[in-house]
Amino acid sequence: MTNAEAYDRGFAQLSSHTVGPLLDRACAPRLLDVGCGTGVVTSAALALGAEVTAVDADPGMLELTARRHPYATVRQAVLPDLPFDDEEFDAIAGNFVINHVPDTAGALKELHRVLRPGGTIALTWWKSDEMTATNVFADAIAAAGVPYEPPARPFTGNDTPRRFTELLEAAGFEAAAVDPVRWRHRVDLATWWDDIVQAGGPRFAMIARQPPETVERIRACYTRLAAPYEREGFPVCAYLAHAARSGR
Ligand SMILES: C[S@@+](CC[C@H](N)C(=O)[O-])C[C@H]1O[C@@H](n2cnc3c(N)ncnc32)[C@H](O)[C@@H]1O
Repeated sequence: MTNAEAYDRGFAQLSSHTVGPLLDRACAPRLLDVGCGTGVVTSAALALGAEVTAVDADPGMLELTARRHPYATVRQAVLPDLPFDDEEFDAIAGNFVINHVPDTAGALKELHRVLRPGGTIALTWWKSDEMTATNVFADAIAAAGVPYEPPARPFTGNDTPRRFTELLEAAGFEAAAVDPVRWRHRVDLATWWDDIVQAGGPRFAMIARQPPETVERIRACYTRLAAPYEREGFPVCAYLAHAARSGR
């Protein structure tokens, strides 16, 4: 299974929860799905009749999205740079991508450039202290006594509603606001372990690289720490930012 397929089987089920609220805020005829991953936003936007351009930094994600969605235009692009003309899109949706981009302010300026006046943008990211579905893995690593240096998070500092609203306004957007979206991620706990460990990703790729007995120790801690969420699901929270480009 490729990393993109493992992402799609596991994490994309979690991220897909915000697709509805995201497209309620930003869906229009020419839509840019930025950081498309395996295409959860693209899929829903195509079903709503939008003409979708999907971009991502990762060729494996793009390959899967292109294969699945032949009616979307799929291109590689790495924020903060986009290979598009000024004002090319009526709406922009980015589900859990802005938190991966090192230059938040630069990315927002670039997104503003490719959005037409009057167009709308919606972006989500995780509220990291309420992200039980993944924090349980960090807790399991700690409980197993395994040294763990979490990767630097370039987005930290820009991830509060107030700061992000300021950044949107500084990039030229208006009517900017950020709303929390809370839900329970109900998942089979053993499957969730497999999906997260196989998908890797910047935070938890280190688990699969441990010796087998260490992996088993982390897994035993995960099983114990995740057990209280088996019935009700993991509580999770995302932020949904939305704004418009001023003009007609
Ligand atoms: C958590 S995934 C979200 C994927 C998809 N939007 C979803 O909701 O399932 C983040 C995606 O952003 C992409 N990404 C990370 N940094 C990026 C960048 N600087 N520019 C474009 N895409 C990026 C990753 O390759 C990955 O596919």
